[in-house]
Amino acid sequence: MTTANPNTAPTVISNDPWFDSYAHRAESMRASEIRALFAVASRPEVVSLAGGMPYLGRMPFAELSEQLARMLREQGEVAWQYGSAQGDPHLREDVLPIMALEGITDAQPDDVVITNGSQSGLDLITRIMCDPGDVILAEAPNYVGALGVFQSFQVDVVNVTMDADGLIPEAFEEAVQAQRRAGKHVKMLYTVPNFHNPAGVTMSVERRPRILEIARRLHVLIVEDNPYGLLGFDGRTYPALRSMDAQNVVYLSSFSKIIAPGMRVAWMVAPPGIRQKLVLANESAILCPSNMSQMTVTTYLDHFDWQARIEDYRSMYRERRDAMDSALHEYLPTCSWNKPKGGFYTWLKIPKGLDAKAMLPRAITAKVAYVSGTAFYNDGQGADHMRLSFCYPTPERIREGVRRLAGVIDRELDTVSLFDTDEGMDAQQEEQR
Ligand SMILES: Cc1ncc(COP(=O)(O)O)c(C=O)c1O
Repeated sequence: MTTANPNTAPTVISNDPWFDSYAHRAESMRASEIRALFAVASRPEVVSLAGGMPYLGRMPFAELSEQLARMLREQGEVAWQYGSAQGDPHLREDVLPIMALEGITDAQPDDVVITNGSQSGLDLITRIMCDPGDVILAEAPNYVGALGVFQSFQVDVVNVTMDADGLIPEAFEEAVQAQRRAGKHVKMLYTVPNFHNPAGVTMSVERRPRILEIARRLHVLIVEDNPYGLLGFDGRTYPALRSMDAQNVVYLSSFSKIIAPGMRVAWMVAPPGIRQKLVLANESAILCPSNMSQMTVTTYLDHFDWQARIEDYRSMYRERRDAMDSALHEYLPTCSWNKPKGGFYTWLKIPKGLDAKAMLPRAITAKVAYVSGTAFYNDGQGADHMRLSFCYPTPERIREGVRRLAGVIDRELDTVSLFDTDEGMDAQQEEQR
C-alpha cells in the first residue's frame, strides 16, 4: 500500500527557488500518465486509443448556438454573475429525471450539489472525509483521476479485487477488516460500478445489495462514481447503489460523457450532513460553480431531446466497441480482453513477457497510442495490461490503430523470444558487458 504512484515521476524544474517550500501534499502530486501522453497522442498522424474524450461531432451546435444567444440576451446578467455554492436550482431540478433513469427517485433538489466536473466532486468528498493516512478502498485497476485526488490528500489507497462482475463483496469485507486490524481508519469505498474505467466491467445487480449491506454493517461510506451509467450498449441501465441506500452512499454523475466535458458540469447527491459540508467545501474551493456553464447545460436540456442524443451516443459507441472487438480478434488473437457492455474502454491483457509501459514509445513511433495499465495502479502493477479507448476514433481509425498495435506487439514478441533462447541470452549478456 503506497500513496505515491511510482510510475509517474514529477517534472523536476532544476532552478525552482521554491523547491524546499512546498507542502507535503504537493510532493505526492504526480502528472498522470495520460496527461503526459496527451501532447504526442493528439498529433493527427497518431491513432489515439489513449484518451477518454467523448466524440462531439454529432452535437447540434448550430441550433444550440441560437438557443444560447437567446439565453444570453434574456438572462445574461444572471449567466455572467456569481451564483449559489450549491449550484443553480434549475439545474438541480433538471438532474432529477436523469437520475430516475437509474432508479434514484427519492432525491430532492436540495440533496444535489453541482460541481466543476466529477473530478472536483472527488476532490470535495476526499477533502471533507479524509485525513492523511486514512484509507480509501478502491477497485483495482482504478480510475486514474481518482488516484490522483486521493494521493494529493495523502490517503492510503488499498486495492480491492474485481472480476468480470465488478467489485468482489468478500474481498471488500476482508479488506475493511484487515485495515482495521492494522489500526487504520477506513473512510470510504470508491467504486465505478458501471462500465468501469479502465476495466470495462459492470458490477452485477446481484452483488449491489451485498456490497451495500457490508458497507452499512461496517460503517464505511460508499462513493459511487457513475459517469457512464446511461451509456449501456443494449440500452440497459443498472440500479444505482444510491437508489437502494440514501444514507450510506454519496453519488456522483456528470454531463461530461452524456453531453460534453467542456462545460465542466457534474453533480453529487449526498445525505444531509455530508451535503452541507460539500457545499461549504465547494464554496471555499471555487465560491460557486459557473452560472454560464450551468445555464448552458439547462438550455441544452430544456430545448433538445437529450434522451435521443444519449440513444445516439449509445449506438455510436456500440459500433466503435464492435470495431475494436473485431479488430482485436483479427489482429491480436494472442491477447485477451473483455467485451464491455457500455462505456468507453477495453482492458487488454498483453502476452506474457511484454511490458505495456516500456513498449509505449515504440507504439508511438508506430503511430498508435494507448494507456499503459500501470497508470491505473498505485503500486507499480499493470504492465501486463493496456487501456484501449474506442470512444473518439472512427471505426476505421480503430481498426487501423489495432493493426498498428499488433505490429508493435508482434515485434516485441519476436524480441522476447530471441532473448528466451540461449543464443539470445548470450547476445543480451554481451550487450550488457
Ligand atoms: C470514472 C470517472 N470518474 C470521473 C471522471 C471525471 O469526469 P468529469 O469530466 O465530470 O470531471 C471520469 C472522466 O473520465 C471518469 O472516467
